[in-house]
Amino acid sequence: MNIIVTGGAGFIGGNFVHYMLNKYNDYKIICLDALTYAGNMETLEPVINNKNFKFIKGDIADRNLVYKVFEEQKPDIIVNFAAESHVDRSIDAPEIFLKTNIIGTSVLLDACRKYGIKRYHQVSTDEVYGDLPLDRTDLFFTEKTPLHTSSPYSASKASADLLVQAYGRTYKLPITISRCSNNYGPYHFPEKLIPLVIANVLNDRAVPVYGKGENVRDWLYVEDHCRAIDMIIHDGKEGEVYNIGGHNERTNLQVVKTIIKALGKSEKLITYVADRPGHDMRYAIDPTKIENELGWKPQTFFDYGIEKTIKWYIDNKKWWENIINGEYQKYYEKMYGGK
Ligand code: NAD
Ligand code: TYD
Repeated sequence: MNIIVTGGAGFIGGNFVHYMLNKYNDYKIICLDALTYAGNMETLEPVINNKNFKFIKGDIADRNLVYKVFEEQKPDIIVNFAAESHVDRSIDAPEIFLKTNIIGTSVLLDACRKYGIKRYHQVSTDEVYGDLPLDRTDLFFTEKTPLHTSSPYSASKASADLLVQAYGRTYKLPITISRCSNNYGPYHFPEKLIPLVIANVLNDRAVPVYGKGENVRDWLYVEDHCRAIDMIIHDGKEGEVYNIGGHNERTNLQVVKTIIKALGKSEKLITYVADRPGHDMRYAIDPTKIENELGWKPQTFFDYGIEKTIKWYIDNKKWWENIINGEYQKYYEKMYGGK
C-alpha cells in the first residue's frame, strides 16, 4: 500500500507518519510537505532513514508538481493534513488559507480523479461547525450539525469539506472526511495554546490568556486522532463524515492552570490579553458514530495525556527551542541540500 501523507512535517501529520510506519512494515509512506513555517523536518528525523518512508518537498496547490508526484508514486490512499492551521494567523492574513486549504485540496482531488485512487481522506476539524454556547453543556457537534464557520481558517476548511463531498458525489471519488477536536501531544508547534504555555512556563515567561480564559476546547491526545484516521481509511464507509473527539472539555484557564501546577510555577505568570476577534466559545464533539461504526475509543484521557505531553516537552527541549530560535528551518538544507 502506498500512502501519500500531505502536511506530514507538521504536528498531526508528523505523528501520523510515525504511527503508520510503526504499525505497518509493508506500507510505503510518502510525505508531501511544502515546509512552510509550520513544517519541521526535525519532527521527521526519527523516520528519515526508514526504507518505507520518502519525503518530497512541494506545495499541494502546485498542480504540475502534484500530478508528477502521483505519476511517480502511484498512491493507493491520500491523507490530506496539509493546511494553514492557525486561527490567529488566518485573522491577520486570510489569503494563504484560501490558497492552501481550498485550492490545494482541489488540486489533490483532481489528481485523484486523473490517476485513480482507493481512498482520499480529508483531515478536517470540528471548527467547521462553529461554536456552542457555554451554558448549554447538553449540546454537542454531530456529523449532522450544519456548517457555520467563524474564522477565515474554519471557513477555508469548511469550503474544502464541501469540495471533497462534491467530488465524492459528482465524480464518485472514494472519499472520507474526519472532523476532530483540538489535538495536543508531541511535536505541536509552540504558537498553539498548550505547547506555547508549556514553553513559556518552562522559561518563566508570561502566559497570554485571551479574554477571560473561559472558552472551552475538547482536547484529544494526538495518537488517538491518528488511530481514528487509520481506522477510517481502512474501514470507514466511502462518502462518510466521522467526528472524532473524546469528551475532554476544559476551559482555557483550566488548561493553563494545570500546566503551571504540573511544572510547580506560580499562577502569577497568567496574563490576560485582548480577546481573539470572533472567538469561538465552546467546541464539543459527539463521537457516537465512529465509536459505533468503527469501534474507535480514545485511549488517553486529558489528565494523563497532558502529563505525558509536558514530559515530552521537557525531554525534547531542543526540538521546540530550535523553533523559537529559527534553527529548525535550516534542517532541510542540512539533510537534503544539493539532493
Ligand atoms: P500544522 O500547522 O502543524 O502543520 C501543517 C503542515 O502542512 C506543515 O508541515 C506545513 O509545512 C504543511 N503545509 C502547509 N501548507 C502546505 C502546502 N501548501 N502544501 C504542502 N504542505 C503544506 O497543522 P496541524 O495542527 O498538524 O493540523 C493538520 C491538519 O489537521 C490540518 O488540516 C488541520 O486543519 C487539521 N486539524 C488540526 C487540529 C489541531 O488541533 N491541530 C484539530 C483538528 C483538525
Ligand atoms: P489554539 O491552540 O490557537 O487552537 P484553536 O483556536 O484552533 O482552538 O487556541 C486554543 C484556545 O486557547 C483558543 O480558545 C484560544 C486560546 N489561546 C489563548 O488564550 N492564548 C494563546 O496564546 C493562544 C495561542 C490561544
